[in-house]
Amino acid sequence: MYTLEELFKKVQSLFENEEFVSEPKRLYEPIAYTLSLGGKRIRPTLLLAATDLFGGDIEDAAHAAIGVETFHNFTLLHDDLMDKSPIRRGKPTVYRKWDENTAILSGDAMNILAWRYFLKKPHVNLLEILRTFEKTSMEICEGQQYDMDFETRDDVSIEEYMQMIRLKTAVLLASALKIGALYANAPSEDIENLYNFGIAIGLAFQLRDDLLDAYGDVATFGKETGTDIKDNKKTILYLTALEKGDTEQRQKLRRLFSETPNNPTGKIQEVLNIYASLDIKSSIEKTISEMHATAEQSLLTIKRPETNKTALRQIAAKLLDRKV
Ligand code: IPE
Ligand code: IPE
Ligand code: MG
Ligand code: MG
Ligand code: MG
Repeated sequence: MYTLEELFKKVQSLFENEEFVSEPKRLYEPIAYTLSLGGKRIRPTLLLAATDLFGGDIEDAAHAAIGVETFHNFTLLHDDLMDKSPIRRGKPTVYRKWDENTAILSGDAMNILAWRYFLKKPHVNLLEILRTFEKTSMEICEGQQYDMDFETRDDVSIEEYMQMIRLKTAVLLASALKIGALYANAPSEDIENLYNFGIAIGLAFQLRDDLLDAYGDVATFGKETGTDIKDNKKTILYLTALEKGDTEQRQKLRRLFSETPNNPTGKIQEVLNIYASLDIKSSIEKTISEMHATAEQSLLTIKRPETNKTALRQIAAKLLDRKV
């Protein structure tokens, strides 16, 4: 068994040993730029941890780990364009540093590159691995479309929001785990429980992301804050505030989230004032903790020695109150 630190080091070394720049430079340089900025590398770490949990050889799954992270970074290139986000990982986003067309095309190339990594080595379960990856890729597109549709809707329910974040975010964490387990030929019942663990931590992960978008420290978080409010994203903060607020607060929130002023500073402050008066932050923190408890329940049902689950528990614990 590997420790979490060793798995993370392995992931780092995989990326250090890859060469992403080729011709034409304008296509490949943004790819190298994005992947060199790192990020938390959660998905490939989860993937290798799952292989290791079931006694597989992490070398067999290493190329898939690069694939899943390359795919994640592709979604970020397009997401930043869609969300008009100026910075990521503390640096200008690709569409800002280069231009919009570059973010579209380099993103497309990263998507293809991800499939290339998955196809690199044969495995008895490769077809199921690719099917899992294909299903997840399409689900993320669906989630991203719901996310955008919700910007202009004023009747989004918390249930619809949870389904949207399951698609745009949670399924990728869950399927990284599933794919890792498939490389180790894990039993299907265990794979299902591991997938459910991934969904629960993935949902909590996106709730935390929504919180950080409002309350994060820009220097640490590496992304601009207030963008969800600026973009009229119907996040868990907004939906919880609608639920908890009185008629006047609800009306004000609905009005603010139908406007797109050129300078959003005042709007952001007004929304944050309403959130503060309703103690939205602690409500969401509580939901995040409950989801982690659900994740732990799924982890317990997996028929592997508890000591083998340490790395996954540590990842979940790290994500629980992350600032990045
Ligand atoms: C950002 O993902 C997109 C979301 C699903 C919230 P991460 O928070 O994993 O981003 P990096 O890869 O660590 O930068
Ligand atoms: C991102 O959701 C989901 C995907 C990239 C698929 P967000 O739009 O909230 O992610 P950030 O905050 O820009 O990282
Ligand atoms: Mg975004
Ligand atoms: Mg987005
Ligand atoms: Mg976000």
